[in-house]
Amino acid sequence: MNHVTLVAGARPNFMKIAPIIHEIQRKRNEGIEIDFSLVHTGQHYDNKMSGSFFKQLNIPDPDINLNSGSGSQAQQTANIMIGFEKYLKSNLTDLVLVVGDVTSTMACSIVAQKLKVEVAHVEAGIRSNDWSMPEEINRLLTDSICNYFFTTSKTANQNLLSSGVNKDKIFFVGNTMIDTLLNNENKFFRPEIYNELKLKKRQYMIMTLHRPSNVDEKIILKELIDEIINSSVDTPIIFPVHPRTKKILKEIGINHPRLKLILPLSYLEFNYLVKNSLAVITDSGGITEETTVMGIPCLTIRNNTERPETISIGTNELVGTNPKNIKYYMQKLLSGKWKKGSIPEMWDGNTSKRIVDILIEL
Ligand code: UD1
Repeated sequence: MNHVTLVAGARPNFMKIAPIIHEIQRKRNEGIEIDFSLVHTGQHYDNKMSGSFFKQLNIPDPDINLNSGSGSQAQQTANIMIGFEKYLKSNLTDLVLVVGDVTSTMACSIVAQKLKVEVAHVEAGIRSNDWSMPEEINRLLTDSICNYFFTTSKTANQNLLSSGVNKDKIFFVGNTMIDTLLNNENKFFRPEIYNELKLKKRQYMIMTLHRPSNVDEKIILKELIDEIINSSVDTPIIFPVHPRTKKILKEIGINHPRLKLILPLSYLEFNYLVKNSLAVITDSGGITEETTVMGIPCLTIRNNTERPETISIGTNELVGTNPKNIKYYMQKLLSGKWKKGSIPEMWDGNTSKRIVDILIEL
């Protein structure tokens, strides 16, 4: 494999591609023949959702930004596919590498495969089995037309094997998101909000909610937030608000002295807050992996997860989306009874190295 085209489109993609790019650059500097291009599909475009990640994680400017933007699932998918097809036709490559489970991941895999370009998927094989989530559809479609599968867990290998994937194409390498976390841990820095609110280590929680199923219906979101506030006793809750959630929150008009709504944070500031927090409340998948590695309790407001090892090994618990469940887990946390957890196999900071070594061999 001499030339790889990497695709990134939305916030959780950026921390997954950064260490792979750095490893390719390192190999090139050693004189090994491998090169890359970077395509930003433009699915996320705000500085706080995209630009700041490129800067902080030292990701080079993309070769192209497809500026696909927002829209319905079909519009977004179509825009990405049209832009990527045009790019790929005039920019030859040996392999397209996609990461994660966002719309860009699926859209670009389909385009590449139809142009007879091989595709590798980083974070392949994980399954929530919940088809109501767009990410699950993206995972299923991407993995059904991929050539090479880089996985974060043995469960993912098992899922791929049982769907008929040839075992020689599956590589259990670990988690590139954790490479980024470990590479940047000593650069995390305090956001202004920390001093402004006089926060104290382990005496506040941080919350993120953006799944359509939690935030698109006013009543559902309001009940969840009300219960989180009521059951968290006197602990401040810092809530960096995703653009999708912001629109609905405005309509609900939630206002409570312990709930601090702030803009999305940069990577280094967000993880500073997580690392020093008492706990995280989230419906994100990636954050459950990061809290597991940092040993921070995580309450997941979802009914399922595609990352079971964050529960069986890590610090994550599946609270569910029923507000009635929240109190039990909050009490467990506030009475100091949360489990300790340990770190899943291969989440050691060397995943990108393993991936690039394999790419060179292919
Ligand atoms: C996407 C991913 C999700 C990921 C999340 C992280 C899919 C299907 N979903 O969801 O897996 O966890 O990103 O953030 O790919 N918007 C802005 N500025 C931006 C981007 C979006 O204001 O830079 C607004 C738009 O109004 C848009 C909405 O946010 O309609 C949602 O964006 P979209 O990319 O559709 O999905 P996310 O909810 O961000």
